[in-house]
Amino acid sequence: MIEFQDASVVAPGTTVRILEPTTLTLAERRVAIIGANGSGKSTLARLINGLVLPSTGSVTVDGRDTRRDAAAVRRSVGFLFTDPSAQLIMPTAAEDVALSLRRTVKGKGERASAALAALESIGLGDKGSVSVHALSGGQRQLLALAGVLAVGPSIIVADEPTTLLDLRWRAHVDALLAGLDQQVIEVTHDLDAASRADRVIVMESGSVAFDGKPRAAVAAYRRLMAGT
Ligand SMILES: Nc1ncnc2c1ncn2[C@@H]1O[C@H](COP(=O)(O)OP(=O)(O)O)[C@@H](O)[C@H]1O
Ligand SMILES: [Mg+2]
Repeated sequence: MIEFQDASVVAPGTTVRILEPTTLTLAERRVAIIGANGSGKSTLARLINGLVLPSTGSVTVDGRDTRRDAAAVRRSVGFLFTDPSAQLIMPTAAEDVALSLRRTVKGKGERASAALAALESIGLGDKGSVSVHALSGGQRQLLALAGVLAVGPSIIVADEPTTLLDLRWRAHVDALLAGLDQQVIEVTHDLDAASRADRVIVMESGSVAFDGKPRAAVAAYRRLMAGT
């Protein structure tokens, strides 16, 4: 369970508040965050795994504070970026997943087989020795997801994970995210994807402008964007 208690964010090195004090409890399995560019979606998402820390108030995940228990929170909250290149570090696909497994699987050989198994489970079984740069954008996003899942998180936060993908890859990544056992918090501009969530949060100017069921949330977002 994710809890925001009066959490606000001031942009680093400025006095500009980019998230107004926000109190939220996120317990639903599938939560979507939608809203205009610059409305605070990424800030809200990054607070959940401690990539951004609250300037006031607190954010906790299963009772662990993102500031005090940062390492534990990072392990339980996997984060998927829009551009998977941001989180792929090693030269090949298998090495990259193996890197994510270094905490949980100690032996080198075991780690290599676990990495291959993780790649297989996500449909990249034949890509283990392929350079991450040679993968397509869609394959890279799958690899990033495999790496995130390898850490064993209970929550996945995905910040526009399909924005850079073509329609086929978008559908594929959407289906994978939909099938995960983990709680998934997804920032998206894809209103069809948002409509499949249990709960949708609409951000506007650093505040939650609407919070509720998808149909009403999408209608609220459309009204906001139309300026009515
Ligand atoms: N590190 C930062 N320094 C200054 N301004 C920032 C910083 N991070 C975000 N902002 C500003 O805060 C606002 C919200 O950003 P963000 O959460 O990235 O919005 P979104 O993901 O909805 O596009 C934007 O106006 C952005 O320019
Ligand atoms: Mg963003």
